[in-house]
Amino acid sequence: MSADLSGQSHIVVGGAGYIGSHVCKMIAALGGTPVTFDNLSSGHDHAVQWGPLVNVDLCNVEKTREAFHAHKEAVSVIHLASSIEVGIGEKDPAGFYNNNVIGAYNLLEAMRANNLNRFIFSSTCATYGETENVPLTEDEVQNPFSVYGKTKLTIEHMIQSYHNAYALNYITLRYFNASGADPDGDIGEEHDPETHLIPIALEAAAGRRGKIKIFGTDYETPDGTCIRDYIHVNDIARAHILGLQRFDEGLTNLEVNIGTGNGYSNLQILQTIEKVTGLPLPYDATPRRPGDVTRLYADATRAKEVLGFEPAHSDLENIIRTAWNFHRSRWQI
Ligand code: UFG
Repeated sequence: MSADLSGQSHIVVGGAGYIGSHVCKMIAALGGTPVTFDNLSSGHDHAVQWGPLVNVDLCNVEKTREAFHAHKEAVSVIHLASSIEVGIGEKDPAGFYNNNVIGAYNLLEAMRANNLNRFIFSSTCATYGETENVPLTEDEVQNPFSVYGKTKLTIEHMIQSYHNAYALNYITLRYFNASGADPDGDIGEEHDPETHLIPIALEAAAGRRGKIKIFGTDYETPDGTCIRDYIHVNDIARAHILGLQRFDEGLTNLEVNIGTGNGYSNLQILQTIEKVTGLPLPYDATPRRPGDVTRLYADATRAKEVLGFEPAHSDLENIIRTAWNFHRSRWQI
């Protein structure tokens, strides 16, 4: 990648988290300084290795405004901090709307107060909801099924309004399923509690938990389980860098899918994990998880045409191998 971020600082909100830490590492590798804003509610201070950490909670209006004021020299703001677990959002919508929507509003207001106007937002394919129209283009109707998807769509609308009224320059990245880990092994997925399929299945394969539960085997898919589009976290990180470059060329007002275009069922994921780890992975079929939709995979055309983005690390075996290597070194096995 030819980007040169020398001398630039970029505020990475959620930089202590899974995707955020990979974004920070990539910014630093290109000569920039990532300034992490994070309340460490789910991120980890040990994942902040490439620039300063500012401990700030977006729900605290005053502290948020002060933090942005102190770093108003930043070239851009990348916002990845949010509540993400689909199942938890169904039980705690108030917490999700507060943390995600109110937090994003406070962030946008702090940006506006400090004349920061380049914004990259982490949105999600969960904003599309249940649809037969796969692969999903960005023009698909957004009718999210989960509370999580609804909070992200509300923020997308807020950002568009800020663009129209206050000339906010933005790129909204609708990620599909972030997965894998940096091959150096220093950062990876470390949610607590973990709710995502691949890390949970790796824990089960390693004997660190009982049999994995597969939530629903009666979906209308070839093997009855849900289908998702898994994209390597370093490919997602690179999409942010491409976005930063495109701002320099005047690009703004963009919503774009960040996926591979390939869909894998939950059982295909388990089979690939068995292949990569060489370990058996029995499972229990259990009822569907509230909030899950049947199939989500991307039409990745716009990302290629507008951002020049193509996945380079998202071969499924590579995703699982890098995740497995990261966890094995953490678990010392
Ligand atoms: N699953 C299981 N058993 C588990 C965990 C997950 O069967 O123990 C299933 C889920 O029901 C779903 C699939 O595995 O069918 C993937 O679930 P994840 O929780 O790994 O991922 P989600 O697709 O629900 O959500 C994730 C992120 C969101 C993002 C979304 C996009 O959490 O932030 O991907 O699809 F928006």
